[in-house]
Amino acid sequence: MNIRELQEKIVQLKQDTDTCILAHSYMSEDICEIADFTGDSYALAVKAKSTKNRNVIMCGVRFMAEMVKMLNPEKRVILSNPAAGCPMAEQMDRELIEQVKAQYPGYAVVAYVNTTAELKTIADVCVTSSSAVRICRAIPEKDILFIPDINLGTYVKANVPEKNFKLLSGGCPTHAKINESEVFAAKKAHPDALLLVHPECKPEVVKHADYVGSTTGIMEFAAQSDAKEFIIGTENSIVQHLQFAHPEKAFYALSKDLVCNNMKATTLADVYHCLKGDGGEVIDMEEELRLKAVKCIEEMIKYGG
Ligand code: 13P
Ligand code: SF4
Repeated sequence: MNIRELQEKIVQLKQDTDTCILAHSYMSEDICEIADFTGDSYALAVKAKSTKNRNVIMCGVRFMAEMVKMLNPEKRVILSNPAAGCPMAEQMDRELIEQVKAQYPGYAVVAYVNTTAELKTIADVCVTSSSAVRICRAIPEKDILFIPDINLGTYVKANVPEKNFKLLSGGCPTHAKINESEVFAAKKAHPDALLLVHPECKPEVVKHADYVGSTTGIMEFAAQSDAKEFIIGTENSIVQHLQFAHPEKAFYALSKDLVCNNMKATTLADVYHCLKGDGGEVIDMEEELRLKAVKCIEEMIKYGG
């Protein structure tokens, strides 16, 4: 079977099984083409809230599938590849943050959505890369304990100077390995290109950017800009999507190392097997855990909308 034939089978199976496919923007082109919706973490959360189908396949990483389940407890939610986790989401557990929280009474716990369901139970509000600045500004608390990403936290802190932030030292291993020297090299190779980066990159990278934003934000900026060349500082799938969408423009990877193996784990064949009922992982969640964890996502949607 070639890619086209497999995609046709998937489209038919979606209808036969009343299934909606949500795909994060880091998914490969062949998966994005058969998805009902693609977007960044925030857009997926909002979409998950309104999906009508009985089954939802989340092509992304585990915390995203958990978020879909929290918002849709009555639906059958399937993570496309059970091995796809997010290393950042596993870095801090509830016990650790409870200890830190006790040292900072009165601070609002603002959790990046890249966290486990268990950790979300003690967060006041969740944020995504596209909503973090807006939400930190909007919440009533002046003191914020921002977990777990120090790079996103540093970016938010710089953009919300009126608030007081306590940051911890978590982060995305993929984005955090990019250094300023790679920015210099990319700019030297492509002197006319604009630099678009994800806020999970280190401040030494972010400070050189012409635009800082989520995966969707980067794609929209590149689409609307009059510039013809762009260096992309996020997972390299975005370079490929942009090149397909805008063949008249040129897109360069900031680094060949900007590859998230977890996001790359899902294949088109995995999606097919989820639909056939012999692949993926059905997300189960204790109702008590769900009710506690979903609150901070509902808050995010309320403030972020
Ligand atoms: P977005 O908020 O852009 O979807 O990013 C999620 C993510 O995991 C980036 O590495
Ligand atoms: Fe997690 Fe980084 Fe991969 Fe995003 S790119 S899923 S933050 S490891």
